[in-house]
Amino acid sequence: MAVDLLLGLQWGDEGKGKIVDVLTSNYNIIARFQGGPNAGHTLVFNGKKHVLHTIPSGIFHEDTTNLVGNGVVIDPVIFKSELDKLEDQNVDYRKSLVISRKAHIILPTHRLLDAASEASKGKAKIGSTLKGIGPTYMDKTGRNGIRVGDLELSDWKERYRALANKHESMISFYNVDIEYNLKELETEFFKAIEVLKSLQFIDSEEYIYQAQKSDKTILAEGAQGSLLDIDFGTYPFVTSSNTTAAGACTGLGVSPNKIGEVFGIFKAYTTRVGSGPFPTELFDKDGEDMARIGNEFGATTGRPRRCGWLDLVALRYACQVNGVTQLMMMKGDVLSGFKTLKVCTAYKYKGDIIQHFPYNIEPENVEPIYTEVEGWAEDLTNMSDASEMPKALNDYIDFLEKELEIPITIVSVGPDRKQTIFRNK
Ligand code: IMP
Repeated sequence: MAVDLLLGLQWGDEGKGKIVDVLTSNYNIIARFQGGPNAGHTLVFNGKKHVLHTIPSGIFHEDTTNLVGNGVVIDPVIFKSELDKLEDQNVDYRKSLVISRKAHIILPTHRLLDAASEASKGKAKIGSTLKGIGPTYMDKTGRNGIRVGDLELSDWKERYRALANKHESMISFYNVDIEYNLKELETEFFKAIEVLKSLQFIDSEEYIYQAQKSDKTILAEGAQGSLLDIDFGTYPFVTSSNTTAAGACTGLGVSPNKIGEVFGIFKAYTTRVGSGPFPTELFDKDGEDMARIGNEFGATTGRPRRCGWLDLVALRYACQVNGVTQLMMMKGDVLSGFKTLKVCTAYKYKGDIIQHFPYNIEPENVEPIYTEVEGWAEDLTNMSDASEMPKALNDYIDFLEKELEIPITIVSVGPDRKQTIFRNK
């Protein structure tokens, strides 16, 4: 069976966790392929909210295997706290959670390096979640990293010490004021490592290959969003992994000709957390209303998210880079009550009108060109069937489908599993 992909098409926080949870009953395996605890995937069911950072969003379904792929970076301390929360809810993860031996480990000193690097950048800082993501991927590509499989080797602690010592000299090189107590951090880290070691480590590419051969259904769960991709995002204000479709191939060991559906998730408007250009960002009451009604605060850091109108130039670009086959529109309910909605359909770029996503999207280069569409007044949050949707919402969706040339098959009208409207392709 082909592997289906589920990806965020904007700057993250599109609601991937909810949709993975909704779709999980169709799949035998849910696999994370990149990112790490910088992600915060929120699931709501039975009146309770659950936030996952590294663990795939299929974990609450008993018969689903949840795989942490080789492309993921794992912080054992955060991983352990996620496991503790699952235990509190009597989720039996021991059989259903498997981890690639090739996934890299975030050390306490990676987190400190992240903080030192950001502090040294001053105003030019990325706005990182400071989870050690960048430094860990740097060690991966620099061929210095420690992988999950290394924990099975007798000398892994010596390797750890050598790398941590190197990191300490690098931290002092940054010459910024970072206070830390490495001994304390290490006590917590080594305790968490023991918990990690009690889980099932696997050769995940072989596992996935065999699963595909025996017709198991697999959904690869993306983290962050396409505009944060290390290659195709708004560099340098991006994360350090490939968040786009190709990342699923390298992050799981799946060949490109074995990819099936590519589900692209987007919000009915746009948000961004952290620094970096955002052409349709709003600084007025509309932006404040989106933030308030949409409860736009980071699930990992609690930081307020910047809000703006839907940007079809950016969305079209994300659909192209990922080969999206179906779209899923999130948070349509947040726009209820806006009289008029604006959608950016082109950019004015250095005097020309363009429809592609250019190299520079900073405000001095790009001015969004908007099309206005009628809003809807109805509360959508109790709707569960496409026939209940107001005409203006249907018109908005028709407009987006025409512009993007891809069907919108799910409209999400609230955080709960139940607040999901399926539309025919
Ligand atoms: P890092 O990956 O934590 O270093 O953060 C790099 C940039 O990506 C920052 O602007 C973060 O705010 C952003 N970012 C990282 N992970 C997420 C996410 O899961 N959702 C939204 N933004 C994210």
